Amino acid sequence: MRGVKRKSVLIVGAEAMPFAATGGLGDVIGSLPQALAAADRELDVRVVMPLYSAVGEKHRAKMKQIAVFDVNLSWRKQYCGIFSMKSRGVTYYFIDNEYYFRRDTLYGQYDDGERFAYFCSAVIEMMKQLNYEPDILHAHDWQAALSLMYLEREKRCGKFLGTKKIFTIHNIEYQGKYDFSILGDVFGLGAEDADILSFDGCINLMKGAIELADTVSTVSPTYSREILTPEYGKGLQNILAENSFKLCGILNGIDNVYYNPSSDSVIPAVYSADDPDGKAFCKAALRAEAGLSDGDVPLFAIISRLVAHKGLDLVCEAIRGILNETSGQLIVLGKGTPEMEDFFRGLEAEMPGRVRALIVYDRDLSKRIYAGADILLMPSRSEPCGLAQMIACAYGTIPVVRETGGLADSVSYAYRDGDGVLTGNGFTFAEPSASALYGAAKAASDFWYRSEDRKELIHRIMTTDFSWSVSALSYSDMYRSLLMRR
Ligand code: GLC
Repeated sequence: MRGVKRKSVLIVGAEAMPFAATGGLGDVIGSLPQALAAADRELDVRVVMPLYSAVGEKHRAKMKQIAVFDVNLSWRKQYCGIFSMKSRGVTYYFIDNEYYFRRDTLYGQYDDGERFAYFCSAVIEMMKQLNYEPDILHAHDWQAALSLMYLEREKRCGKFLGTKKIFTIHNIEYQGKYDFSILGDVFGLGAEDADILSFDGCINLMKGAIELADTVSTVSPTYSREILTPEYGKGLQNILAENSFKLCGILNGIDNVYYNPSSDSVIPAVYSADDPDGKAFCKAALRAEAGLSDGDVPLFAIISRLVAHKGLDLVCEAIRGILNETSGQLIVLGKGTPEMEDFFRGLEAEMPGRVRALIVYDRDLSKRIYAGADILLMPSRSEPCGLAQMIACAYGTIPVVRETGGLADSVSYAYRDGDGVLTGNGFTFAEPSASALYGAAKAASDFWYRSEDRKELIHRIMTTDFSWSVSALSYSDMYRSLLMRR
């Protein structure tokens, strides 16, 4: 390799496992870089994220401070420390500033616009300070969108001319919309940038990143087509249509070391496709933990943010019918809107011993649920990729999903063909209605009650390959084809 300059990509994201994460974005930024480094040895993969107070001591102990400098943000001058570490072939940088990142939550703070503008500005300043010119700057979601804008400003001054820009949309629901007044006073940007960032009467960071990027990717092929329509585009459909020549969709994978029931240390018993008995033990332990009664009935699970676009309104409408018809039980894990949280708390009170609502975000608990449940309900109205359906399969839990986004690309209806051969890996429905959800959940339950069918399906879903190996190669191809373009 000596003498050959490796191509370098800097992945910019607001969260990454195992350091700090609140959802699927953190899973992806946690596992994609390592999969990329393993799949493409000629690629120098680096990741940059904020050093939140949530990043634990055990990680901090492995980091070294490698730079200290000031970051300008309009009239503000803010301290920035860069901490760094290497793990599984990837270099990580952490942006340290306690004023911005020592908070109770990663997001949802009153000054998120300023916090992530600071983060993005610090990323570009870091590249200068470290004399590091990546071949690709790959920004994820609205929190990282401004890094492409600040890079563009450097390019106008003749710097980083060789650095290409990629923007990945994980969820178009969250675009980073602000009042115009933020442009100069906080972002430190001028009239020449207003056109790029403005949309529909406000500043829209995602829109700006779509305009600026050389390639825009989303997290599944189906979602990359859906967001061109008004129903899914959330206002950005025309901008995306104008930029459709640079749009593509690559399905996420899951980390099959972290999500592996044969070696998982947080589930009560290990098991595998060929030796699945431990799953029954996990179910019994989960029921005991959650206060659910015993019995040979299916245990449904929902592991999701409890919001309408995840289809939870359909669940509210259909769930009593599903549970009554199947004699099933339900366990819910997640936080969301107050109405939704109240609904599930109410259902728990109404059906004690049959329904348990755990209104928290807890990764270890989620794994015990994936391991202990029989059927996962995931009726999303929109789902860019979705990871829960893949994790469920890995743990032998049958997914029931709506045919949208990555759900449509990863789950297909299970049935026996004329020769009795089983195909498919779950139960799906198209219409976003309570009755369609009911139909698919009932079909899954009927399948589950037939113990031979159940065993074969569980074996089948547990051996479906949702690892990153294929997707990482698609990312590496995307990088290569972009770098070949002049
Ligand atoms: C967002 C999307 C989800 C996707 C994840 C990772 O959380 O809502 O569908 O799986 O990002 O890309």
